[in-house]
Amino acid sequence: MPQPRIQAWESLTDLADRKSRLTIAEMIDADRLNRYSGSVGGLHIDFSKHRVDDDIRAALLDLARETSVLEKAKQMYAGDTVNVTEGRAASHMALRCPPEDQDPTAILQAREQMRVLSDAIRTGQWNGPAGEPVTNVVNIGIGGSDLGPKMVCAALREFADGPTCHFISNVDGAELLTLLERLDPLRTAIVISSKTFTTQETMRNAETALAWLDSDKPAKFCFAVTASPDNARAFGIPDDQVLTFSESVGGRYSLWSSIGLPICIAIGYERFAELLAGGAAMDRHFLESTPESNIPLTLGLLGIWYSNFLGAQTHAVVPYCQRLKLFVDHLQQLDMESNGKSVTIAGNHVDVDSGPIVWGQTGTNGQHAFFQLLHQGTRLVPIDFIGVINDGLSREDHHRILMANMIAQSEALMLGRRSGDPHRDYRGNRPSTTILMDKLTPAALGALVALYEHRVFVQAMVWDINPFDQWGVELGKALTGDVLAEKGEHDASTLDLMRRTGLTT
Ligand code: F6P
Repeated sequence: MPQPRIQAWESLTDLADRKSRLTIAEMIDADRLNRYSGSVGGLHIDFSKHRVDDDIRAALLDLARETSVLEKAKQMYAGDTVNVTEGRAASHMALRCPPEDQDPTAILQAREQMRVLSDAIRTGQWNGPAGEPVTNVVNIGIGGSDLGPKMVCAALREFADGPTCHFISNVDGAELLTLLERLDPLRTAIVISSKTFTTQETMRNAETALAWLDSDKPAKFCFAVTASPDNARAFGIPDDQVLTFSESVGGRYSLWSSIGLPICIAIGYERFAELLAGGAAMDRHFLESTPESNIPLTLGLLGIWYSNFLGAQTHAVVPYCQRLKLFVDHLQQLDMESNGKSVTIAGNHVDVDSGPIVWGQTGTNGQHAFFQLLHQGTRLVPIDFIGVINDGLSREDHHRILMANMIAQSEALMLGRRSGDPHRDYRGNRPSTTILMDKLTPAALGALVALYEHRVFVQAMVWDINPFDQWGVELGKALTGDVLAEKGEHDASTLDLMRRTGLTT
């Protein structure tokens, strides 16, 4: 138990034991569906197919009350220093909707700069090295400086009417060099996105891209998006092409900040503003609705139930929309970099399982790969299905099949089927949430991303961990420096690998 003396934890442990035979299919009816579903921000969320009854749900809500989850959400929104190990607030919600009692100037100015610059690029008023409008933009960044904007640009490609945005994150030169071969160095702009402007992979990629641009002053044709503007200026980026955001915006929560510049370039600032509005609608719901009707709270607590009381190790996310493929990648950083921790905020050991392994793939592709394990494997894997009801880029004959597959999967996982042959037996009772949106619009996507951000926050508060730092990635970075510089003592295996790859003699 993460915090001592939590009564609800004891109750849930007891309920998990007493109700181990709870069968979803036996509980489902119209009344349950009504009480175990809800709509917010253009999303309809059905959480009726879970191994949870009213007693368990009540105990989970007690757990949220006892761990003050919603009070802590309000403190986060108010700008309290919730990221204690870095001495910072976590201001991603403020980016979507600045709190009334705070000065919004910095946020509004950053938005205005994004609007002006992206408009200039989209309307051909901003010229590349050829003295002509740019046709392609390459965003160079990694982690939160890549995954969020890349996912949004892919998801909203129906609305893309600006220069083509490409994303380079890996320091694997084959990716960058192959992309650059296809582009015109006279008609390409580079966006260097890095909160710190020191990240090794990003700086290496940026230098290579700048050397490729056809100009003796290549930095003139670059934009920097960063929380460290001095580093960007030292790199040579002109002042009016440096876009900033606050240190208090975590990388994996930063797509709402100037890091969203490629989104504005691809689909226009107005649609980016709709994305923000969708996120803000989810924020209002999270902050203002009752615990009983609070969807992010409920989804977070369901995850706690499976991770801590029913032994699930992983959580699968399966969007039935190919354009949401990268949503899973974004969620992996959001969830695992936030909640992959084993100490509490006070620095004590968390003696229960914390963040699950988040994974997934789009449907129907996943059905022909890992769904075998979901249907007949020994592990419990709660699943989120995400579906788009009306897809303007598809066609009715395809879309009906896609939706039918999604719905049939959740039904099959829940119902199972007995046969005389154990190889053909499906035990069923496998839980899932289904999230539907009418259309994949900027607003609906904004609400979806914010929903998952809050789900992660809810779980962190129950486990009493800080979801806003990421110290776990530092050791590997430091040792990479040592390996590259051939510094320090290395074990026999590491030395052998260094020799075989030519990193040392
Ligand atoms: O991998 C660690 C990390 O610090 C992430 O949290 C962050 O999103 C990514 O690296 C990139 O960092 P930066 O934006 O400073 O280049």
